[in-house]
Amino acid sequence: MRDVQRIAIVDPSDTTREALRNVLLGMESIWLEAECARYEFFQEVISQSIPDVAVVSLDSDQNKAIQLIGQMTTDLPEVPILAISARGDGQAILQALRSGAREFLTVPIVLEDLLKALQRLHRGRPSADRSNGVAASTKTESLVIAVLGSRGGVGCTSVAVNLGASLAQDPRHNVALIDLDLALGDADVALDLMADYTLADVALNIDRLDQQFLRRSLSKHESGLSLLPHPVQMEDASLIREDHLQRVINLLRASYSHLILDLSKSFSPTDVTGLRMADLILLVAQLDLTSLRNVVRTMATLGNEESLANKVQIVLNRVGSESDISLKKAEETVGKSIYWQIPNEPRPLAESRNHGVPLVTFAPRCKVQQSIAGLAEAVCGKQLQSAQKEKSSRWGLFARR
Ligand SMILES: Nc1ncnc2c1ncn2[C@@H]1O[C@H](COP(=O)(O)OP(=O)(O)OP(=O)(O)O)[C@@H](O)[C@H]1O
Ligand SMILES: [Mg+2]
Repeated sequence: MRDVQRIAIVDPSDTTREALRNVLLGMESIWLEAECARYEFFQEVISQSIPDVAVVSLDSDQNKAIQLIGQMTTDLPEVPILAISARGDGQAILQALRSGAREFLTVPIVLEDLLKALQRLHRGRPSADRSNGVAASTKTESLVIAVLGSRGGVGCTSVAVNLGASLAQDPRHNVALIDLDLALGDADVALDLMADYTLADVALNIDRLDQQFLRRSLSKHESGLSLLPHPVQMEDASLIREDHLQRVINLLRASYSHLILDLSKSFSPTDVTGLRMADLILLVAQLDLTSLRNVVRTMATLGNEESLANKVQIVLNRVGSESDISLKKAEETVGKSIYWQIPNEPRPLAESRNHGVPLVTFAPRCKVQQSIAGLAEAVCGKQLQSAQKEKSSRWGLFARR
């Protein structure tokens, strides 16, 4: 479970306060610490609990609200203030910000805007929790990892599922996998999960989607990895639009530390959306001509959008299987160094897939799992170079030819 942000709100109007409360209660990452109906009492209420964010509605009495913001900025400078108002006029915004509010949102509140504002406020907070002296929240940005193949059967689902299960072993992580191979995906098979809901159900309910609803739509595997599978009926794949996926990813980002996208190989609009929203694109390849040629083609296509090309890292799968193409030749061909290598080890891979159990449970000591555990560390930013070097020499498989 990720850390929550403790929020206190003040809004004398029962109607708008209730609407705001409902939005906040639907958010996994929020704890509603206090609700107050009087501007006069709010400072006293929050001075005891020191919430992470104070939300001040301006609309019942703008003068009193602005005065309160100014007073709180002086007396409780550690509590960032989010001002909200249905009157999105420049004057109200300016006054609120000049008095010390750090963010401003117009009502009705759009969930994604609220999440972004709260994230910005969270980032700007000092790292000590003054209310009880406990160590500061360790909430970090979520990482969206898209796994893209350079041809069919290259190992995307194996990488996506086993990377997800490996990342989920860390109790600080909360990891979800979205199967974006909408017609033929098999992440559910690899995890032996019969999900109650799929991406199609989420798409059909997109307008009333909140974080709780969305989290309930994911099935949790005993490895800790959560899955949002592709639609059951192939024809339902067309229900899922780019804007649906955008919304789903934005909402899931707030409650999961890692989101893994197992993309299809068709460069469909949802694949492209996944690529755009990813922080890291793992392009899976093998040492064969078709795969390497497609890596070059994929890099050229992604290169048309600078922001995409910069996020790509090449993962070479099944290294050590019969091939007359050397690693050096592969790097020369694709014009980029290989980020990670995964050895060829057919048996545990095939058996774990057939049993629907990820490697971390099925064969934790096999070479592929060790490599993927190293990849999990690397994507979390842990000393890529040394981890890879150490593992390369241990396996003795990856000497450059
Ligand atoms: N490192 C590996 N060593 C041995 N076999 C592997 C390895 N990685 C994947 N495989 C095998 O390759 C086959 C294809 O893997 P996988 O389904 O993960 O690929 P994919 O790219 O998702 O395929 P698709 O194009 O169908 O989506 C599977 O049988 C899997 O067991
Ligand atoms: Mg696949």
